[in-house]
Amino acid sequence: MFSKDRFNQDLIQSFLLRQGPSSRLRDAILYALESPGKRLRPRLAHESGVRFGLKPSSTSRFGRSIELVHLFSLVHDDLPALDDDDFRRGQPTLHRKFDEGIALLAGDELLQFAHETFHELSDAVERESFTAALRVFHQAIGRDGMIGGQALELETPPGEMTLEMLTRIQTLKTGALFRAAVVIPALLSGTPPSDPRVAGVETFASAFGFAFQIADDLQDEEQDRHESTKNILGLMGRQAAIELALDRLTGAPGFEAFSPAKELAILLESEKRRT
Ligand code: IPE
Ligand code: IPE
Ligand code: MG
Repeated sequence: MFSKDRFNQDLIQSFLLRQGPSSRLRDAILYALESPGKRLRPRLAHESGVRFGLKPSSTSRFGRSIELVHLFSLVHDDLPALDDDDFRRGQPTLHRKFDEGIALLAGDELLQFAHETFHELSDAVERESFTAALRVFHQAIGRDGMIGGQALELETPPGEMTLEMLTRIQTLKTGALFRAAVVIPALLSGTPPSDPRVAGVETFASAFGFAFQIADDLQDEEQDRHESTKNILGLMGRQAAIELALDRLTGAPGFEAFSPAKELAILLESEKRRT
């Protein structure tokens, strides 16, 4: 079973082993690493690793690298140039705790650390598997993934947001890392990209990403942060969105094997009844 405590210990330890002399940059990165995240992507990676028989040490290494990418994305996303948020995970955002310059560089360094961590997998798996996995990792981060989705969101005026555009943005900015979290352990285990089981976890990730987004929108609704034009609930209708998310999630291949998916389904079921 995935242990969040163990994961957090390994993440901090691997950073401390790598870091240089004490500095504000180091303190800022530690602040990001120690903030209380759910570690959803490493959990999904862990369960995919078990499913595909990947060595636990490789799964953990990959889990750290994908969480580091996620952390980088959050640190930059909160900056005044993007969402300008003061709080993240109930604590001051990194640029509020330190300053904007350090937050920018801490984000850069988190991404660098993610790549270094990923690269260590090259000694642990077959060369061909590593290359296939690296391709998906790059795709998930860059213009065809999280960064591309953030850019598309930035460039789309709220008044012009359609359901189709919003779905595209979310598939890129949030979905791509979920897809990578479950597909990469399959590829690292030596499963060929053309294996139908890889397509199966991709379908799962897409359903999970959609359901995650609906749950996130419901949470915003509760906290009265609802922006109807930018929100799937507003564009689709609350009940229809929840039902579609539930149908896709519970019907996805491997739904039973991924515990974060089961938790999401329970949450959506209770929201459905609340309507
Ligand atoms: C939040 O992701 C940011 C989005 C991608 C929408 P998570 O809900 O996984 O955030 P943490 O890591 O648990 O804080
Ligand atoms: C978070 O997106 C950052 C990325 C997905 C890259 P959002 O802006 O939608 O989520 P929160 O509200 O900051 O967590
Ligand atoms: Mg944000």
